[in-house]
Amino acid sequence: MKNFKTVVLASVLALLANSAMADAAHPKIGFSIDDLRLERWARDRDYFTAAAEQLGAKVYVQSADANEQRQISQIENLISRGVDVIVIVPFNATVLNNVVAEAKKAGVKVLSYDRLILNADIDAYISFDNEKVGEMQASGVLNAQPKGNYFLLGGAPTDNNAKILREGQMKILQPAIDKGDIKIVGQQWVKEWNPTEALSIIENALTANSNKIDGIVASNDATAGGAIQALAAQKLAGKVPISGQDADLAAVKRVIAGTQTMTVYKPLKLLASEAAKLSVQLVRNEKPTYNSQYDNGSKKVDSILLKPTPLTKDNIDVLIDDGFYTKAQIAGK
Ligand code: GAL
Repeated sequence: MKNFKTVVLASVLALLANSAMADAAHPKIGFSIDDLRLERWARDRDYFTAAAEQLGAKVYVQSADANEQRQISQIENLISRGVDVIVIVPFNATVLNNVVAEAKKAGVKVLSYDRLILNADIDAYISFDNEKVGEMQASGVLNAQPKGNYFLLGGAPTDNNAKILREGQMKILQPAIDKGDIKIVGQQWVKEWNPTEALSIIENALTANSNKIDGIVASNDATAGGAIQALAAQKLAGKVPISGQDADLAAVKRVIAGTQTMTVYKPLKLLASEAAKLSVQLVRNEKPTYNSQYDNGSKKVDSILLKPTPLTKDNIDVLIDDGFYTKAQIAGK
């Protein structure tokens, strides 16, 4: 009898080990994205899926369309589907601690993608150096407009990147404020990075300041686009320097046309393929090479930060050399 039990136990253990090995050889990856309606995230999704499949993984993508509750239930659904790792672009960085704890309890690894999840036991974080992005945005506007009234158009208040960008922006602006060269006449966060929100915020800011706004530090291209619409209505488009980031196609055309001063190029193919590699390493318990660490309120998170590139009309060709756009796309009307 004893013999029989040992044989049964040994084969069950072998089976378990085998299934674990199978997952490691062909990991199942859940990719939970805040909002595929914003241009850049469809690129992240496509680049990530291609890179992960190259590594033998299977990817299940879910978009929460900027809905907090939906993202939480989608993550719970991925856990019950038995994924080995969940890659998350959080809609709201502060509400995922419980569902991350559920994932960890189920033995699922969690990677925070591009935006840091706060107060949660995540395994790793990968993004661009968003403080550098903020510095580039503020420098782009300050170089074009060293003096005058500034408006700060922030990102989504639910997005930790919005705060890091603002820290970078203020590092550049504060000395000019202290010297009295520039004055911040207003600042607002933009809910869900929504261009229509940005449009009405800048409409109101122009009215409140009788159009006397000399520079706008906008935190991404989508919101810069809304702000430029408000400027155009007052015949100020191209006269008021304004920043952005993401090198959205519409923004690149505005930079060439001169209505947007600059954008920031973040090689999404690099971010997505590094994230795919990191996800698989986490599943295989391999040792990734981190280059930074972030305190997310509950732990020091091992991080990989990639380098952003500021773009003006003088170096916009970087996008073509890098294969981000074709010449025809950028020239297209
Ligand atoms: C941020 C991201 C930016 C920006 C924004 C809108 O977190 O870092 O690239 O575009 O989201 O999705």
